[in-house]
Amino acid sequence: MLRLTLVALGLLAAQAVAQCTREDLIAATDSLLAAQTAGTPDTVAPLADTVVYLEAFKTADIKTGILSHALNIDFNRSLHDTTQCATYTEIVVTDKAHPYVIGTQLRFADGKIANISSLVTDQGDWLFNATGTLYWASQEKWDPIPEDQRDSREVIQAAADAYADLFNDKCDVGVPNGVNLSNRRYVIDETLGAVDIFIDFATVPDSHEFRVEKGKLRYVHTITVMGG
Ligand SMILES: *[C@@H]1O[C@H](CO)[C@@H](O)[C@H](O)[C@H]1NC(C)=O
Ligand SMILES: *[C@@H]1O[C@H](CO)[C@@H](O)[C@H](O)[C@H]1NC(C)=O
Ligand SMILES: *[C@@H]1O[C@H](CO)[C@@H](O)[C@H](O)[C@H]1NC(C)=O
Ligand SMILES: *[C@@H]1O[C@H](CO)[C@@H](O)[C@H](O)[C@H]1NC(C)=O
Repeated sequence: MLRLTLVALGLLAAQAVAQCTREDLIAATDSLLAAQTAGTPDTVAPLADTVVYLEAFKTADIKTGILSHALNIDFNRSLHDTTQCATYTEIVVTDKAHPYVIGTQLRFADGKIANISSLVTDQGDWLFNATGTLYWASQEKWDPIPEDQRDSREVIQAAADAYADLFNDKCDVGVPNGVNLSNRRYVIDETLGAVDIFIDFATVPDSHEFRVEKGKLRYVHTITVMGG
C-alpha cells in the first residue's frame, strides 16, 4: 500500500515537471524502431543514466531483451504524449522464422528516457496472429485529426476507460482478492486521438490501445502476454 502511494506521488511529480516537444518524442520512437531493426539496445536515445527496463512488467536485462534481436518490422505506429513525456509504439513482425507483436511504453525524466516497458508476444500468446494483426492494422486510418476536431485528453481517456471498465467487470469473477485492476498506465496522444493503457490483469500483462474519434471508440488493439 505504501509502495503504491509512493509510486502515485512519483507519477504526479513527473507530470508536474514534464516538458517535452512532440519532435523530441518522435525522435525517441524513431530511435527505438531503428534500434529494434538493428538489434542494438544501446542506440535507443536519449537514454538517462539509469534506465528501468521491463518486459511483461518484470525487470529484465535490456542487453539480452527483445531490442537485442534484429527484427524486420512490417508495421509500426507510435503515440506521443507531450503532457506526460511518454510514448507508446506498436511493432508487428510477420517474419515466418519468428513473428512478433510488441507494445512498448517509453517514459521520460528530465528529457531523457528513464523507463522502457515492453510487452513482447509471439506464438502461444492470447489470440496471437501477427499476419492478422498486420492485415487489420493496414486497413485502419489513424491519420492525425484536424486541430479543430481534436478531443481533449480527458475525453480520449474517458472513452478508453469506459471500455476498460467493462473489461474489468466482466473479468471480476476469478480475479484474486487484492488485485487492483485499475492500475492503468496511460499514454495519450490528442493529435492522433489515441490512447494506450498498460493494465495488470491479475498476473497477465496487457495493453489496450484505442483510436477515439469525436469521443467514440473507432479501433481497439490489444496485446496480452500469456507466455512465461
Ligand atoms: C514505421 O512506419 C512508417 C509508416 O507509418 C514507415 O514510414 C517507417 O519506415 C516505419 N519504420 C520502420 C523502422 O519500419
Ligand atoms: C515504468 O513504466 C511502466 C509502464 O509505463 C510502469 O508500469 C512502471 O511502473 C514504471 N516503472 C518505474 C520504476 O517507474
Ligand atoms: C491470421 O489472420 C489471417 C488474416 O486475417 C487469417 O487469414 C489466418 O487464418 C489467421 N491465422 C490463424 C492461425 O488464425
Ligand atoms: C485501485 O487504485 C485506484 C488508483 O489507482 C484507486 O482509486 C482505487 O480506489 C483502488 N481500488 C481498490 C479496490 O483498491
